[in-house]
Amino acid sequence: MSTTPVDSPTERRKITTRSFARKKQRREPISMLTAYDYPTALALDRARVDSILVGDSLGMVVLGYENTLPVTMADMLHHCRAVARGARYALMIGDMPFMSYQVDVNDAVRNAGRFLQEAGMDAVKLEGGREREAVIRAIVGAGIPVMGHLGLTPQSVHQFGGMRAQGRSAAAAQRLLEDALMLQDAGCFSIVLESVPARLAELISQRLEIPTIGIGAGAGCDGQVLVTHDLLGLFERFTPRFVKQYANFYEQMETAFNAYKADVETRSFPAQEHTVEMPEDEWVQFLEDVDA
Ligand code: KIV
Repeated sequence: MSTTPVDSPTERRKITTRSFARKKQRREPISMLTAYDYPTALALDRARVDSILVGDSLGMVVLGYENTLPVTMADMLHHCRAVARGARYALMIGDMPFMSYQVDVNDAVRNAGRFLQEAGMDAVKLEGGREREAVIRAIVGAGIPVMGHLGLTPQSVHQFGGMRAQGRSAAAAQRLLEDALMLQDAGCFSIVLESVPARLAELISQRLEIPTIGIGAGAGCDGQVLVTHDLLGLFERFTPRFVKQYANFYEQMETAFNAYKADVETRSFPAQEHTVEMPEDEWVQFLEDVDA
């Protein structure tokens, strides 16, 4: 039985940054997941997930890097294009990779523009607080919607000394709240809060007019995001504590590959139904010709 929801005129409407704002006003939770390819984007879109993030988590869960730092603009644009071919309904957000927005404001605006102009995205996301104010204002000023990202910002992994939860002291919590208010003031339409204490995330969500999207930040955020490979059990290296795993695709993949290998080795695959036949008279003719 198909689990695809029945289309209704309202359900079929494209999700925009305004839909995010409306959902916050109506206290309707916002759902977001990552995708890096066409089939995943198609499945998320059919499930009517509100938003698809083409995250730079791509570097770890698809490209096999240790962290997100090696991901390039070329990597991101390539995968964003594939996602954009699969999704019509979800708000699509492209994650700006390390060094694409930290060095120069003009470069940052140009790079942000490429996500919309060349890769079919609706918005971009970038990491950081007060130190990103000028860049965010410039990108928003160019007409490009920006999602902020605070808390555990993986591109700063070396500065943090590892993937550590953030905002756990009174001073750090105060700084995070100030940064969130600054991002809102700079024009962000939404902010990801990653690995911060649940009660801090809830307070920030209440103080902001724009929606917060939590990951490892508790149920008090206005929406939730997970890395799809974690949710599906497709990333075998580790699963963060805050992930709810809905499937174990990695195990299923291994089972399927083992079964395929055994079938090939025992000649049970391909069977009759997997092979192409030729009319008997043509075959007889061929044999006559080949021996002539
Ligand atoms: O890259 C990513 O997938 C992200 C999410 C974890 C928010 O930034």
